[in-house]
Amino acid sequence: FENGLGRTPQMGWNSWNHFFCEINEETIKETADALVNTGLAKLGYQYVNIDDCWAQSDRDYQGNFVPNRQTFPSGIKALADYVHVKGLKLGIYSDAGTRTCSNKMPGSLDHEEQDVKTFASWGVDYLKYDNCNDAGRTVMERYTRMSNAMKTYGKRIFFSLCEWGKENPATWAGSMGNSWRTTGDIADNWASMTSRADQNDRWASYAGPGGWNDPDMLEVGNGGMSDAEYLSHFSIWALAKAPLLIGCDVRSMSQQTKNILSNWEVIAVNQDRLGVQGKKVQSDNGLEVWAGPLSNNRKAVVLWNRQSYQATITAHWSNLGLAASIAVTVRDLWAHSSLAAQGQISALVAPHDCKMYVLTPK
Ligand code: GLA
Repeated sequence: FENGLGRTPQMGWNSWNHFFCEINEETIKETADALVNTGLAKLGYQYVNIDDCWAQSDRDYQGNFVPNRQTFPSGIKALADYVHVKGLKLGIYSDAGTRTCSNKMPGSLDHEEQDVKTFASWGVDYLKYDNCNDAGRTVMERYTRMSNAMKTYGKRIFFSLCEWGKENPATWAGSMGNSWRTTGDIADNWASMTSRADQNDRWASYAGPGGWNDPDMLEVGNGGMSDAEYLSHFSIWALAKAPLLIGCDVRSMSQQTKNILSNWEVIAVNQDRLGVQGKKVQSDNGLEVWAGPLSNNRKAVVLWNRQSYQATITAHWSNLGLAASIAVTVRDLWAHSSLAAQGQISALVAPHDCKMYVLTPK
């Protein structure tokens, strides 16, 4: 999909995982402010994405989308202007069906060109395109229609397909958009997060600059998981070249949440220019190693303890694509410290926690 966008996975924030339909223009503006004031914007979190429930229930007499008069009285263009002044980008949401998933607003089916023109005229930078209320028409027809409209009228708009992985979008969505969901919705708990990670992992070979697998947005900071679990969630999403779309209330996040989301060394793995999705390379009864190549012959490695007891996990060079004789410098991305290793690397990992390293051959 050659719009030049998404050379690395998209980073930003989305309203759904924390606010669901309870959104308004103040929330969006305050979030944009908070992204800047907390330093997250500078770390790369640039998209401020409005999810479902931003529009009136019905189109106007000309068939145009109308922003919800109670919650977005100033309109979407004003909001785009507001975030642009801060150096951020604005995202919006629609659906490849007759209504969106909330059923509170229309979808874009059979209004694709009109809606993309509207979004472009408002200065929107990103479109998430959901899959509810399909009117019995195929995924392929409905997403092709929007992709074509985007290619003509939305050339500067990042296109995020939200088809939930139903018809193996990794195998075809690379020609239609910049990312595609590979899973159903994430929920703010360990079982949901780990299963999304595994489902997404199957499609690793299809990801690359311009088009990314999307195991759904981050739940870090929403309260349903421990800090160790959120640290694992963030590490694995970064390694898997997943979109890093914050899903908590950044206006009131805890220091620990901020520390996780702000780890620039982990973000750098996600944003590495090589753009190869890391994957599960070792698995022994819940003691896992996930790894992938980075630019300059480096490797990213996560030792992930999915068990409920503390355990030693060892990553073997043979599983990382390294010859046994190779000595490396090991950068521990969460401890922010360095050590040396050859042949393997081991660590004691707390339950549901992980270690994350970058290995640089000497
Ligand atoms: C679907 C999507 C979610 C969210 C909701 C909004 O469930 O997968 O990410 O956008 O719709 O209703």
